[in-house]
Amino acid sequence: METIPAVGLGTWRASPVEVTNAVKVAIDVGYRHFDCAYFYHNENEIGAAIASKIEEGVVTREELFVVSKLWCTHHQKSLVRSACSESLKALKLDYLDLYLIHWPMGFKSGDEDLPLDNNGMVIPSETNFLDTWEAMEDLVSAGLVKAIGVSNFNSEQLDRLLSKPDLRVKPLTNQIECHPYLTQEKLIRFCRDRDVCVTAYRPLGGSKETVTLLEDPVIQRIAAEHKKSPAQILIRFQIQRKVIVIPKSITPSRIRENFQVFDFELTEQDMNDLLALNKNLRLATLPTTKNHKDYPFYIEY
Ligand SMILES: NC(=O)c1ccc[n+]([C@@H]2O[C@H](COP(=O)([O-])OP(=O)(O)OC[C@H]3O[C@@H](n4cnc5c(N)ncnc54)[C@H](OP(=O)(O)O)[C@@H]3O)[C@@H](O)[C@H]2O)c1
Repeated sequence: METIPAVGLGTWRASPVEVTNAVKVAIDVGYRHFDCAYFYHNENEIGAAIASKIEEGVVTREELFVVSKLWCTHHQKSLVRSACSESLKALKLDYLDLYLIHWPMGFKSGDEDLPLDNNGMVIPSETNFLDTWEAMEDLVSAGLVKAIGVSNFNSEQLDRLLSKPDLRVKPLTNQIECHPYLTQEKLIRFCRDRDVCVTAYRPLGGSKETVTLLEDPVIQRIAAEHKKSPAQILIRFQIQRKVIVIPKSITPSRIRENFQVFDFELTEQDMNDLLALNKNLRLATLPTTKNHKDYPFYIEY
């Protein structure tokens, strides 16, 4: 089974002009795992950085763990292979280490990533993710991807997938939003009991406009006690829960800082204090999709 490196670089909202340098810096400081997606529209520039570091001899392809994601407008079985090939071409790779269904909801196919109706709500496709999964399994058989997984799946959706009678390939991970304000203990336990690992996205709470996790007094106190930054505490928190974590930064000093998380340990009390901050605050809600039959956030977990 593929093992996912514990810390990866997130690349959402990393602008194409900045992301090439960010990925190069990340490879230089030791990152091997890169979390990409068609939807982020920067895979070409990420691929340029990877190719240049392989060419320089800093890393080999085999040492890297590159993830991409199938966008919702490509859920139709006949579109999955071409979507994957497009990401591979942009990333300049001949295989992905992991390919995820980005969200359980399928949208109308076409040029728009978010096709909307007159009420501003997403136009669904006729697809269902169990069929999409079969086309994902075919990518493994064809050697285009080493492993497949899901993202933003709730426990019922994951259960439906795992209970599929003709399941050929199990999902390696469920990538979900996770941080001390949304600790996801129940969904993590559910995944773990079924041998599906968990990857935490938005581990720092995303950009400042939305939440001020980095300024939380409890996180700041723990950071001061360990002489580490609040971001390092948030990343270490996930490592110690055995949750894979993918902080995003395009700032070289922060890229470095976010990887310096293997030289200290949070105490049990620290971990409990961080878990106690939970308020089920979900930041990634994709509101235009909330009428979709497969919208994942109507049940507890
Ligand atoms: N599967 C999904 O649906 C999904 C959804 C959301 C995200 N993701 C993935 O998860 C990754 C991470 O989530 P995210 O990008 O939403 O949010 P995040 O990683 O929680 O936060 C990123 C923000 O924190 C800042 N930052 C990074 N390191 C910092 C540090 N040491 N100190 C202070 N600020 C710091 C970044 O600024 P600078 O970049 O300016 O340094 C950026 O504004 C994404 O990039 C993407 O790969 C997946």
